[in-house]
Amino acid sequence: PYVITEPCIGVKDASCVDVCPVDCIHTTDDAPQYYINPDQCIDCAACELACPVSAIAHDAALEGDMRRYIEINANFYRS
Ligand code: SF4
Ligand code: F3S
Repeated sequence: PYVITEPCIGVKDASCVDVCPVDCIHTTDDAPQYYINPDQCIDCAACELACPVSAIAHDAALEGDMRRYIEINANFYRS
């Protein structure tokens, strides 16, 4: 799945939400960023192209410290 990473923090532009065909990008008012549900994302890449701060990438493309966002996104949907 695609993953939302650090540049989203404090920006929360939400352009990604409007283009997602399966409506799998969510947040809450008090959360620092938006999150992609890894069980619903169909890897269409529309969100990656829509984000003005390049916060979104496929999980396989994430390197180093940015890889922790894979779990950060998934954890938002676990409770
Ligand atoms: Fe939604 Fe497509 Fe982005 Fe996955 S890659 S979160 S399906 S817009
Ligand atoms: Fe965040 Fe970019 Fe979406 S800033 S809310 S990932 S459009």
